[in-house]
Amino acid sequence: MSGFVEKPEPLQVPGLVHVHTGKVRDLYRNEAGDLVMVASDRMSAYDWVLPTEIPDKGRVLTQLSMWWFDQLADLVPNHVISTDVPPGAPAEWEGRTTVCKSLQMVPVECVARGYLTGSGLLEYNESRTVCGLALPDGLSDGSELPGPIFTPATKAEVGEHDENVSYEEVARQVGAETAAQLRQATLAVYGRARDIARERGVILADTKFEFGFDGDDLVIADEVLTPDSSRFWPADSWQPGRAQPSFDKQFVRDWLTSPASGWDRKSEQPPPPLPQDVVDATRAKYIEAYERLTGLPW
Ligand SMILES: Nc1ncnc2c1ncn2[C@@H]1O[C@H](COP(=O)(O)OP(=O)(O)O)[C@@H](O)[C@H]1O
Ligand SMILES: [Mg+2]
Repeated sequence: MSGFVEKPEPLQVPGLVHVHTGKVRDLYRNEAGDLVMVASDRMSAYDWVLPTEIPDKGRVLTQLSMWWFDQLADLVPNHVISTDVPPGAPAEWEGRTTVCKSLQMVPVECVARGYLTGSGLLEYNESRTVCGLALPDGLSDGSELPGPIFTPATKAEVGEHDENVSYEEVARQVGAETAAQLRQATLAVYGRARDIARERGVILADTKFEFGFDGDDLVIADEVLTPDSSRFWPADSWQPGRAQPSFDKQFVRDWLTSPASGWDRKSEQPPPPLPQDVVDATRAKYIEAYERLTGLPW
């Protein structure tokens, strides 16, 4: 079982047509044909969209993505048109709205990894590979890889797991030329972001991008380099061989799997609401990530 514990209703805004409710973002189309992407405070964990929101999360994700788009502008064009709230939309949308080009999305989750953990570690332990790429012996949870690697995944529906695939499989699905462009752009952006984060005492362990086509041009879309799409680790406590502390939903995951939640991940039951202290700690982590990376006060 998985999905939304409570599926949100789209808002009725004059001039906007609702097109999609994602795990975190709601998409509308405006009269110019552009997309209006609104980042909610929804939180997903273990393939569920939780019944409790994290105040300001959607704003943090939007502002952080905007900051990164600026840092990356010379490497790859992005989908942003403006952050203006459409006339007639609620004031609540301020700071969480991105008006963006409506792209032909490439159905591949473009993941770059500089460190080994998560699904990469699981595959490595089975076969010494990640997405079919051979890696040296002796790596453990949190180890830095010899160099960053492109480890694509197929994009799953809400409630389904993304699935790691080989580069060859991506090339079969989207064509060799597009696959090469995706890999090149993913690794270029990862390299830039890793260096910026490192200067600020943050390790960018891995991250996921989504790209789309605007005519013949490959454009970076969605959110970029946020705690929802990336693993950020404080550099000063990095220690391979164990799970690393991180700037994301770790508190939520730990609480959900602890006896305190009373929830069994393997059961058919939806996860319970989060207690206030978990909400507060999670909000603080997202804000800390924003402040550490951008150097700006929230
Ligand atoms: N410029 C764009 N054009 C078309 N679709 C986009 C664009 N930017 C992002 N998207 C799509 O908008 C959705 C964002 O909502 P999100 O809550 O992140 O969804 P998901 O549950 O798929 O992660 C994703 O499906 C993403 O692929
Ligand atoms: Mg998403």
